[in-house]
Amino acid sequence: MSTPTTVKEVGGYKLGKLIIEGKTKQVYDVPSLPGHCILLSKDRITAGDGVKAHDLAGKSIISNKTTCKVFEILTRVGIKTSFVKEAASNAFLSKKCEMIPIEWVTRRLATGSFLKRHPGVKEGYRFNPPKHETFFKDDANHDPQWSQEQIISAEFKVNGVQIGKLEVDYMTRVSILVFEVLEKVWSTRDCALIDMKIEFGVDSCGEILVADVIDSDSWRLWPSGDKRLMVDKQVYRNLSTVTDKDLDTVKRNFEWVADQLDLLIPPNDHLVVIIMGSPSDKDHCNKIKSYCQELGLNTEIRVTSAHKTTEYTLDIISYYEGLNLPIVFIAVAGRSNGLGPVISGNTDFPVINCPPGSKDDLGRDIWSSLNVPSGLGCTTVVYPETAALAAAQSIALTNYIVWSKLRVRRLGYFWSLPKADQGTRN
Ligand SMILES: Nc1ncnc2c1ncn2[C@@H]1O[C@H](COP(=O)(O)OP(=O)(O)OP(=O)(O)O)[C@@H](O)[C@H]1O
Ligand SMILES: [Mg+2]
Repeated sequence: MSTPTTVKEVGGYKLGKLIIEGKTKQVYDVPSLPGHCILLSKDRITAGDGVKAHDLAGKSIISNKTTCKVFEILTRVGIKTSFVKEAASNAFLSKKCEMIPIEWVTRRLATGSFLKRHPGVKEGYRFNPPKHETFFKDDANHDPQWSQEQIISAEFKVNGVQIGKLEVDYMTRVSILVFEVLEKVWSTRDCALIDMKIEFGVDSCGEILVADVIDSDSWRLWPSGDKRLMVDKQVYRNLSTVTDKDLDTVKRNFEWVADQLDLLIPPNDHLVVIIMGSPSDKDHCNKIKSYCQELGLNTEIRVTSAHKTTEYTLDIISYYEGLNLPIVFIAVAGRSNGLGPVISGNTDFPVINCPPGSKDDLGRDIWSSLNVPSGLGCTTVVYPETAALAAAQSIALTNYIVWSKLRVRRLGYFWSLPKADQGTRN
């Protein structure tokens, strides 16, 4: 094998003991950073629970690059992962986890082993929502499929955390979320993510994290949705004999995938423009702004009155139209809201009215936002958080980062609310 048995230093990190060595990676302690480890990739490709295995020079660098890019995206949208940062071309720094010995598989289309286990289902059957399956990591027994009930009954205790129904349910939901986020990301490169597997670990703080790696070994990826163009490890799995030329093809595919991630175009810049009719509405606008920022939205706050400074209001609209960006306007005006409807009548960007003022005023004032002249499409919300969410949903239509942040936020409730519920019962 091309990787030496033990390594002393990686990317400036002095390595401690080799914690574990698997088929494709070595995991080392980092004595200077307790609770962390270095995952060092090997130039090795394997399939069929390790029965088929080859050295493949350069694979470690390609795999590491892919994993780092993928985890950077997941971290950016707020998914909790063990990834910390790239440490070297073939290694990354990670939180040290006790791993949960389950593979969490999510599928959009039926193919591969699913078809064998479900005779009669045609290849390409589309799962909406994605299909989720779990497999116990046990090479000797070919990673048998396990039900949720089997995982719960195994009573895994990992870094002090008992893996019960809530935890299994949460990991199932996170697996689907990770799939959906990466599916969106890959669609921007015209690639269909067909299925993928991830693993979870628990760090020293007892937090459940997406761990291990996510690279070309982890998924099926079909450029243009065409199976014949597949660029994932399936190409290697399908080989009955493996020539140097075959290995070169596999490597070039993996390289292509890593390069595509480099070419990911960051989503269009965007702007949420919060316009208030009077400086006295500033506190309300700042609340909207802070909710927007939590969702990763860029914001600007402006002041103008549609009634008193009409031309200035129109100038502001023209300025933002000229930026040629996806824009959402949020109009904040008390009493008679002329502002939102006037903006709405002079732009084709979405306009959301979010009137300020006390609850008592609202019942009276809201009608000026709701009962708009014909031909206007502005909408009205009452709470600053709702305004920010509505703006984010518009931006998310063309922005996979904002879409993912919304998706992650929604998932958060499936952890925080049952935890709160459990708290009330203790
Ligand atoms: N953040 C982490 N902390 C601790 N161990 C980790 C972490 N990420 C991955 N591991 C573990 O590192 C080991 C080596 O990885 P590798 O993928 O090479 O193993 P493998 O031979 O494929 O075996 P497996 O089938 O268990 O993945 C695995 O047991 C994996 O669970
Ligand atoms: Mg592995």
